[in-house]
Amino acid sequence: MRYCDVQGNCGDVEGDWDGLEEDEVQLHDVGEFYMDSPDWFLKHSKLLRDLVKPISMINPDCSNEYRAHTALKLFCVGYWSQVFSPIMKKIGIPTVYIDLCSGSGLTKVTGSDKFLPGSPFVADAYGNIFDYVICVDNDPQYANVLTKRLSAVRKPDSFKVFCCDNQDAIGEIIEIVKSKRAMFFCFYDPHGFDGFSWNVLEKLASSLNGDLLLTWFEHGLWRNYPHNEIILNRVFGDDSWKGAKSSEELTTKFCVRLSSIRALIKPIEIVDESKTVYHQILCVKETPAGSPFLRAWDDLRGYLESEGARATEMWLDIAYEKQTQLFDPKFER
Ligand SMILES: C[S@@+](CC[C@H](N)C(=O)[O-])C[C@H]1O[C@@H](n2cnc3c(N)ncnc32)[C@H](O)[C@@H]1O
Repeated sequence: MRYCDVQGNCGDVEGDWDGLEEDEVQLHDVGEFYMDSPDWFLKHSKLLRDLVKPISMINPDCSNEYRAHTALKLFCVGYWSQVFSPIMKKIGIPTVYIDLCSGSGLTKVTGSDKFLPGSPFVADAYGNIFDYVICVDNDPQYANVLTKRLSAVRKPDSFKVFCCDNQDAIGEIIEIVKSKRAMFFCFYDPHGFDGFSWNVLEKLASSLNGDLLLTWFEHGLWRNYPHNEIILNRVFGDDSWKGAKSSEELTTKFCVRLSSIRALIKPIEIVDESKTVYHQILCVKETPAGSPFLRAWDDLRGYLESEGARATEMWLDIAYEKQTQLFDPKFER
């Protein structure tokens, strides 16, 4: 197969992505994360719990902190990694995972003694499903500790952690992915809208082939509407946000904007007590085969939108029940 990036730089790779038929890669085969089970939440909460243990042995005092429903975005990033990476492997294309707001690799669940693995570890679950991992965090402590944590599970030449604003790293990131002739899966997970910029998204999406997963805070942005033009322009990259009449319409406008960089935009809405907490928006290229793998994402949406954030705390409580002591100080480095 001749593979070209969007700028027309071409090379030969084995396999045929566009011609790949659904039955060549069974959706049920693509990963542990695809499971049709009534215990779905419990199983996945346990997967997260198990991932935490080795990470939390390194600098256990360093973690991000978020509410329990952060687990659902981890399900999303883990799930799509487990769809994306095996398909690319099967057709012989190298894979790079890019985390533009990567955090420290460990998250404390607010108001509890539970911890969750950070997104780079969930994406690369059980180590090394991606050929290369790139992380960015502008907090020096997070970037430093994440480097140590990744060093424990990956070879030194198989990852890079940037400690800077992701806007300053994006050029180098693009060059790394190009040099590997790889497809990327990028998770863009800002805190609120700190660190989120349309320019970064557009540069990445227009330079390379790959999928994007974004965390989107509808209500957070609506609170800035319409007075905070600086933030709205940074997020949208232009003034297409103007004229929105509700927070939902603002999200719709953003999805329309996203469709200029990827044809298929698939949001999952995470709802807590009837209020939208955040969205996970998947942006992928349309394939001539009809993008059959997106059905896996629709299944995930079924799970997350039915139980949603409402049940997360309960599932985590059950999954973590026997975990009385998370850290053993003798392992601290
Ligand atoms: C929501 S947290 C990321 C959590 C992580 N994705 C996870 O799920 O484990 C957002 C992170 O973005 C970082 N950040 C904020 N602004 C940034 C920027 N301009 N460039 C890179 N990182 C930034 C923060 O330090 C924080 O650790």
